[in-house]
Amino acid sequence: MNILVIGSGGREHAIVHKIKQDGIKNIYCAPGNAGIEELAQCVPIKIDDIDGLLRFAEEKKIYLTIVGPELPLNEGIVDAFHEKGLTIFGPSKQAAMLESSKSFAKKLMKKYGIPTPAFEVFTSPEEAIDYAGTISYPAVIKADGLASGKGVIIVHELSQAISTIKDIMENRVFGDAGKTMLVEDCISGVESSYFVLSNGSSCINVASARDYKRLMDNNDGPNTGGMGSLSPSDKLTPELEKKIADRIISPLMNALNKEGIMYRGVIYIGLMISNNEPSVLEFNVRFGDPETQAILPRIESDLVGVLTDSAKGKPFSDSIKLRQESAVCVVMASRGYPVHPQTGDTIEGLRDASGKDVFIFHAGTKNEKGIIKTAGGRVLGITAIGDNIKAARQKAYRSVGKIVFEGSQYRRDIGL
Ligand SMILES: Nc1ncnc2c1ncn2[C@@H]1O[C@H](COP(=O)(O)OP(=O)(O)O)[C@@H](O)[C@H]1O
Ligand SMILES: [Mg+2]
Repeated sequence: MNILVIGSGGREHAIVHKIKQDGIKNIYCAPGNAGIEELAQCVPIKIDDIDGLLRFAEEKKIYLTIVGPELPLNEGIVDAFHEKGLTIFGPSKQAAMLESSKSFAKKLMKKYGIPTPAFEVFTSPEEAIDYAGTISYPAVIKADGLASGKGVIIVHELSQAISTIKDIMENRVFGDAGKTMLVEDCISGVESSYFVLSNGSSCINVASARDYKRLMDNNDGPNTGGMGSLSPSDKLTPELEKKIADRIISPLMNALNKEGIMYRGVIYIGLMISNNEPSVLEFNVRFGDPETQAILPRIESDLVGVLTDSAKGKPFSDSIKLRQESAVCVVMASRGYPVHPQTGDTIEGLRDASGKDVFIFHAGTKNEKGIIKTAGGRVLGITAIGDNIKAARQKAYRSVGKIVFEGSQYRRDIGL
């Protein structure tokens, strides 16, 4: 059975690692990284080279293609593969709008009564600015389209709202993602995320998680792709999970069904919990990075089976069984990240750092004649599993302490 994984980050290393454990021998990864190379055959095809990926999948008779990042989904890779009769895990371009258009997702939630902060959608800067004069602050301004996690700005006063609106809609700092814009009520609380797998008609739970977006301890410093994660989320009680199931997941499945949107793939629900009530901030249409690095090592059951059911729209053969322990993932980033990441530094101590229930997931790494070097902003994700978060974080940080590269940056407070 040949499997192709698309992507080159820690998320994709975690996916490749899990399916290798499930007993899959022939794994290809496009384009992969130095860690993935040890488990799979990496092929230098770019993630948005849909024709190239399609040709490769046909030539190698790929049984299942698993898409990691959102870019190829948004470019319609799933539609292109389906046209050729190939099995691919992920939503169609239309269904991927749940992530690629925040206004689409918000309107859907509003129509079906899914709790989400109140919002207005604008296509003209003048109207947005007029509206900004009537609301209270802080407020949240969001570019509608994909903006690499940079398109959401919390503004604290009218003048900042006006300059943000102009940046997004007139100066187009996020390109076409800013053709349409949203202004949302700012709510406070604690964030968590929840992952489910859908086969187009029903869904099964994967797990909850939490991620750390800021570069520095105590949530200081600039936003990043994510500096750490844990699973399950320590912020979700069984009572909250039931509210999420009843008020969010089941109305969402109903909404997709009623709107004729065939959603196959993972749905990542970004939540804010305020006063013990969950509210949806956003949906993503793929596994999160670095949440996946904390979730997948907890999965005991076979992953390829359920991903294939989801991809083919078949009834799920099984639910997902999780280890009840906690997983903590600490991301190590290169010097200069996230503004000017420096690469080409030698990474030492990798072999010493691994151990039982410790997983070293590579992201921006490359193998130069047997020497592993940094090759991107986020370099490694070190996940450990322990009886509780405290035990898991201690184990993860013990490993992190053994890994050395020039100017490495990591947070000390993941899981604290
Ligand atoms: N309505 C809101 N109230 C308060 N904080 C918000 C709100 N919407 C978004 N945020 C904050 O901004 C972050 C990014 O917003 P999100 O909608 O997840 O967009 P993206 O991940 O595409 O950048 C969230 O993780 C949250 O911290
Ligand atoms: Mg988000």
